Amino acid sequence: MTDSLLKQVNVFDFAKLARAKLDPVAWDYLDEGSDDEVSLRANRSRFDDLIIRPHVLANDVSKIDTSITLFGKQLTQPIYLSVTGGKNCFVPNGEQETALAAGTADSMMITSGGIGDVVSAGKGPKVWWQYTTAAEFRTKNQMVTFAEKLQDQGCSAISVTVDIYVVSHRERSMHNGLVRSWCQMAKGIPRNDKGDLAYNSDDVLWTAGDAPAPRAFPTPTWDTLQRLREVSKLPVIVKGVLTSEDTDRAVKCGMSGIIVSNHGARQLDQVGATIEALPECVQAAGGKIPVLVDGGFRRGTDVFKALALGAAAVGVGRPYLWGLAAFGQRGVVQIVKILQAELAADMGMAGVGKISEIDRSYVRTRH
Ligand SMILES: Cc1cc2nc3c(=O)[nH]c(=O)nc-3n(C[C@H](O)[C@H](O)[C@H](O)COP(=O)(O)O)c2cc1C
Repeated sequence: MTDSLLKQVNVFDFAKLARAKLDPVAWDYLDEGSDDEVSLRANRSRFDDLIIRPHVLANDVSKIDTSITLFGKQLTQPIYLSVTGGKNCFVPNGEQETALAAGTADSMMITSGGIGDVVSAGKGPKVWWQYTTAAEFRTKNQMVTFAEKLQDQGCSAISVTVDIYVVSHRERSMHNGLVRSWCQMAKGIPRNDKGDLAYNSDDVLWTAGDAPAPRAFPTPTWDTLQRLREVSKLPVIVKGVLTSEDTDRAVKCGMSGIIVSNHGARQLDQVGATIEALPECVQAAGGKIPVLVDGGFRRGTDVFKALALGAAAVGVGRPYLWGLAAFGQRGVVQIVKILQAELAADMGMAGVGKISEIDRSYVRTRH
């Protein structure tokens, strides 16, 4: 019998399976954007505004090498797994399953924690740790301890998410009455007496009309990040930058890199697509720090376009969650393999054999 995993041709095939398999409440949590989901649609549709310009016969494409070096680490592909909270809504032990898959696929992963044992057992991926709140940032000593702990756990960078200090309106989940404890459960997927995921509770994530709920008191500033950079031996990467001004601040504060991201269009709506924001951020970074990007990447050609615009690497969120929901660990591995294979084929057809051969001349805006 042919393995149904191998019958899935592209990442969208995994999305269909995941949707059919998941409880509708969990699917909405995975799939949704905020407010009117304008940025969610833009993250995909704006790729079509860019046209690839192949350079035929320019390079040897008999062997395609997708590897890159990022923050001193060799990676077999410029595609990494972006941080996603709440994986246990999709499969039990989702974070560990993903970490093991990332290790198998030799993909870098940003984690929100709970995989120290996987990493220290040497089975895990190259990991960057997500940092979101200010608790460990209050004093210099707390920062030093925090940074040292991450280093001891085998993490090679700290990724600070800077776009979530105010909770957004994800209205599909608000309509569904999604409760916080589902996303935080360590094991299994909790259900109510009727066997479904939605139930009334005081634990709802968002209530219409409530004042914005900050995630930290006070919320961090660039000074906070600069202090973290000063005490940490690990690179510090800022996730959630969308403008040239903020890229400039990141460079001035000594950040090691930025991730151009709109949080998968789950935070502020109407901010546009990340592929639109990328060029101004690349220009502002001026080659001083690497610029990474995530949001809506589903095809090798999407990745190729971002690399041509100057991105150092590309993150994916929902695609590997589709793989995880549909096939567990194996699904995540296959998602990475599919995207890497598509990128390699697209590189070859565009006339490049190595990532370093891709430049701005390989892409133009549609007139
Ligand atoms: C279910 C889900 C949970 C997420 N949780 C986080 C998070 O905790 N922290 C964060 O910085 N980004 C989070 N993200 C955003 C991703 O890191 C990434 O920016 C985004 O998913 C990329 O867009 P894509 O899903 O279209 O590939 C989450 C995304 C999803 C889909």
